[in-house]
Parts: sequence; C-alpha cells; structure tokens
Amino acid sequence: DTDLSKIMKQEVGKAAADRVKSNSIVGLGTGSTTAFAIQFIGERLQRGELKNIQGIPTSFQAEVLSKQYGIPLTTLDAVDHIDVAIDGADEVDPNKNLIKGGGAAHTREKVVDSLADQFIVVVDSGKLVDKLGSTFLLPVEVIPMAMTPVMRKLTQLGGKPELRMGVKKAGPVVTDQGNLVIDVKFDEIPNPESLEKEINNIPGVLENGLFVGVADVVLVGEVKADQASVR
Ligand code: A5P
Repeated sequence: DTDLSKIMKQEVGKAAADRVKSNSIVGLGTGSTTAFAIQFIGERLQRGELKNIQGIPTSFQAEVLSKQYGIPLTTLDAVDHIDVAIDGADEVDPNKNLIKGGGAAHTREKVVDSLADQFIVVVDSGKLVDKLGSTFLLPVEVIPMAMTPVMRKLTQLGGKPELRMGVKKAGPVVTDQGNLVIDVKFDEIPNPESLEKEINNIPGVLENGLFVGVADVVLVGEVKADQASVR
C-alpha cells in the first residue's frame, strides 16, 4: 500500500468503528481496510468509550486481529442476532451490490454480513464500478473433489474459471474451511442476483462472492488534493 492508500483505509476504518455502539454484537470482516476498523474498535474499548462488545469474526485473520486488539469474541451459536457488521469488498456497484472473496473469506463473510441488522461496507473509491465483474474475478468456494465438474459448469455459464494458487505456497489456496477457490472471469454480469443463485446451485459449490442486497451503508475513502476523506 502507498501511504495515501493506507491513510484512506485508516480513515474509512475509523469512520466505521465510530458507528459501533456499546452493548452490541459486531460482525468483524476480513481484509486490510476492515483490519483498521477492528483496531479502532479495540482502541475505543480500551479507552472505555465502548462497553460490552461481542465480536463475531469472519475469518482466521479477523479472529487473530480481534484477539490482538482485545475485542471479546463469541459465536453464532451463542447469540440470536448481529447488530452491525463491518466488512470490506473488492467491487461495489451503484446498487450497493458487491463482489467479495479477494481474501478467500466470502463464505463466512456472507453468513455474518447477511445476518447483521446493519452491514457497513468499507472501501476506497477504486472499488466503485458501474458493473460488477469489470475489474475483479468472481471468487467461488468449492469442495476439493468437485473442482473439475464445477469448473466445467462455470464455463457453461459463460465464465472463464481458474483455480486460485497460493503465493508463498506450491499449490492452491485453501480456505479457512479447507476448500478451494475458483476465480471466474465473466465478460459481463448483467444480472448479479440470478448469477449468484445459479452458481450456488452447482453441486459442490459452497458459496460465491456476489453479495446482492446485503449491504446497507457503503463508506468510501477518497483522496483529493492529497487529502484523505470518507463519504
Ligand atoms: C475477503 O474475502 C474479501 O471479501 C475482503 O473483504 C476484500 O478482499 C477487501 O479487502 P481489502 O480491504 O484489503 O481491499
């Protein structure tokens, strides 16, 4: 990250953390932007400005960070609702529909984010697109034994699928649940709502990264004249 992009992420993370109220159950998202929200929620707790927060992490990364910043954690088995979830995104369209899963965490993210009374998305302005799929491949989590038939089916749906490979690993990325991620290039996604359902209907697919009608608020970090701000 450049300094300005880091400051932008910090600002937007702080703006989201400031919206969290005492006595609430908070979904904690994944990625470098949400990491700042987790840090600022932890700091507000340490200062005594926030009280009685229970976090629900969306990934191993969110869990480790939350522990590091002193946020008490719980599980979905112990609560009957989530007040607010804060999470990043890889693309946001004008209808607040999203592509997520750049961190291979979209399955747990969709569970947590869609349960929240309010889902706040934290992004920088570079994530805003007119049409989903224009800059980012669509992540699909698949159980390992179904990889090949699922890829064939995704091709039939008009996509170009590729298995996501590890960076510092010889072999594929393995999700927190022990599955694989197939990234799919669609030249266009005219109807995100139907594509989301169609892909999830393929046997062996656990979840795809289209989030349709889930986001309530999108906080956007911007840099103008070398100044970072949030809108
Ligand atoms: C994780 O699977 C993704 O959905 C992330 O929320 C997304 O990649 C955002 O990450 P950054 O804030 O680091 O861009």
